[in-house]
Amino acid sequence: MLLKVDPVQPEDDIIRQAAEVIRQGGLVAFPTETVYGLGANALNEEAVARIFVAKDRPAEDPLIVHIASIEDLRRVARELPPQVRVLSQAFWPGPLTLILPRAAAVPSNVTAGLDTVGVRMPAHAVALALIRAAGTPIAAPSANLFGRPSPTTAQHVLEDLGGRVDLILDGGPTPIGVESTVLDLSGERPVILRPGGLSREALSLVLEEIAVDTSALWREREEGRFPSPGLMEKHYAPRARLIFFRGAEQAMLAAMKEQVDQLLAAGKKVGLLLASEDRGLFAGYPVLIEDLGPGDNLGHIAARLFAAIRALDGQGVEVILARGFGAMGLGLAIEDRLAKAAGGRVVEVH
Ligand code: TXA
Ligand code: MG
Repeated sequence: MLLKVDPVQPEDDIIRQAAEVIRQGGLVAFPTETVYGLGANALNEEAVARIFVAKDRPAEDPLIVHIASIEDLRRVARELPPQVRVLSQAFWPGPLTLILPRAAAVPSNVTAGLDTVGVRMPAHAVALALIRAAGTPIAAPSANLFGRPSPTTAQHVLEDLGGRVDLILDGGPTPIGVESTVLDLSGERPVILRPGGLSREALSLVLEEIAVDTSALWREREEGRFPSPGLMEKHYAPRARLIFFRGAEQAMLAAMKEQVDQLLAAGKKVGLLLASEDRGLFAGYPVLIEDLGPGDNLGHIAARLFAAIRALDGQGVEVILARGFGAMGLGLAIEDRLAKAAGGRVVEVH
């Protein structure tokens, strides 16, 4: 069932109905400021198990626990490293997930058996109202089938999970459009495991030392002991083959154009993910173009990214060529998602 809900002032009766589903151990898909989540009572092991079944998600991939207050944080984390105070004051509610020591109340299927738990307070009135009304923290991964791009509209959730969830709350498109930044505070120094909706630059206003280490995860994966399997590159794969180009703007676009020529000569159906100003370069080309908006508006590009990939996939293109937008601000998360969707097919242009 899908119910429309006001994203700014959610209707009480709808929230009450959704909260009841959570309390009964059911699944509710709901909007957050990043992407739609697939929620269950985080303290109910059976309810959490349903999430993995609905998504076809491997049990080794831990979930994020969503909270609505700092009191909730004490229910799910057994101790709070010193940085939590300043980070939560600066960035919660918001697109920041903290990896913290897990409290015993959190069932082990939430954390895939890890001794740490990912926690965030989402900046979305629907998500916060739902957590409060349910009276429990809510475990929620992105509400897509495993291996598909994260959903930024209720329609995306319906495409992937229709019939597998008890209720979908439709609060319109999610404003940020890429998932939260995952920051590991369980080690000696803070490490970004997944760049996301909160930029590294913003974090470094508050934290002195901050590392970004997604490659360490890939190394560990090869050694068979990765701490955060959801970060593996296949995670965002579209059906089409995606090739990601990054580097100096002019050379990057020239390399894309050359690749398009080759693919068209080979009779391939091609889709492009471009900035508005790049479109002229491909005028008259028999290709499908998804315009992500002006190249200097990273917020807009991030918000459109997953919907654009889904749109090209839906039109049956065989190859998608995507360009990067640098590594500043949200550019880092955009780059990370495109590199993952490309599954290693990354063309570096200098
Ligand atoms: O914006 C978001 O984070 C969205 C919304 C719904 O909140 N959620 C989301 O969840 O993206 P999911 O499950 O698709 O991604 C969670 C990521 C995964 O890469 C997972 O491996 C990592 O967080 N993660 C969760 N708990 C972890 C832990 N204890 N240690 C390391 N990584 C963890
Ligand atoms: Mg996900």
